[in-house]
Amino acid sequence: MTTDSFMTAASDYASQVDDTFWVLVAISGLITLLVASLIAGFSLRYRRGSNAWRGPFPERLGRDVEIGWTVATLFLFLFVFWWAASNELSALDVPGNAFEIHVVAKQWMWRVQQPGGAREINEIHVPENVPIRLVMTSEDVIHDLFLPTMRLKQDVLPGRYTYLWFTATKTGVFHLTCAEYCGTDHSVMAGRLVVMTAPDYARWTNAQPEADDLAHQGEALFRSLGCSGCHAPTSSVHAPDLHGIYGRAVHLSDGRVVTADEEYLRDSILLPMKDIVAGFAPIMPSFRGAVTEGELVKLIAYLKSLSSPTLPSPASGRGSLFRTSPASGGG
Ligand code: CUA
Repeated sequence: MTTDSFMTAASDYASQVDDTFWVLVAISGLITLLVASLIAGFSLRYRRGSNAWRGPFPERLGRDVEIGWTVATLFLFLFVFWWAASNELSALDVPGNAFEIHVVAKQWMWRVQQPGGAREINEIHVPENVPIRLVMTSEDVIHDLFLPTMRLKQDVLPGRYTYLWFTATKTGVFHLTCAEYCGTDHSVMAGRLVVMTAPDYARWTNAQPEADDLAHQGEALFRSLGCSGCHAPTSSVHAPDLHGIYGRAVHLSDGRVVTADEEYLRDSILLPMKDIVAGFAPIMPSFRGAVTEGELVKLIAYLKSLSSPTLPSPASGRGSLFRTSPASGGG
């Protein structure tokens, strides 16, 4: 496999972006050609000494021409706006079954955590024809993940999550770079996006040394950090039950209602005083500094697995979407 050029369009969205680009180039080209030929034609026709007619333009015809070209260009540009904007807006909706991969940026590398547990540096392996959602954060400064062949670019910020999603339609090895100046080695903060067929991806996942998927690693952390001491249904401490928490509407003590997304779960662990759940005392300690970004990813993967019937239950051993063999040592 070779690294494809930046020009390759490796997703449906990338093809849409290219279509928009080429249509804009074509429209601009045609208008440029029209204006240039009018300039050339008139220069020739009304050159000094020519005997072309130079009387006044009929007033009525002049107004009609004026209105005609104003309205025509207005509708042309409104159409371009509507068409390009609807392409962009439709690309914002992430399919519900998207496969989630976590990316943590750090001066000057990309650390990647696959849902199956595999860890990578400066490489993201993804299956083809499956919607992929990247959940990204930074451990230090602002970085920016750029996937040229997907025509996607998104800032990666410390202290919060940002997202990108795509469905790769071509297998191959593609560029991945940092697109925000982030210090001395910004220029080498690059890597590879490896798109594989689903069976190849499953084989690759199974060949990784990591023993357990993210959700199960998170479950072990949930116990070792003592979270289960308060959040277990049998606990004597009054703390919210976290089963089904992800994606649920949460009523807060100050009357706000928020959706429990990744950002909410992250803030609840690091900044527990920010959003107090209605009916509960603010007794949760902050885990800021006690857990790394990588550990947060695992904890959140575990909390999400408590909501999703498609993720393995804690009792079913290891076996996420692309783990095919029920190997020993899981759970
Ligand atoms: Cu990270 Cu530039």
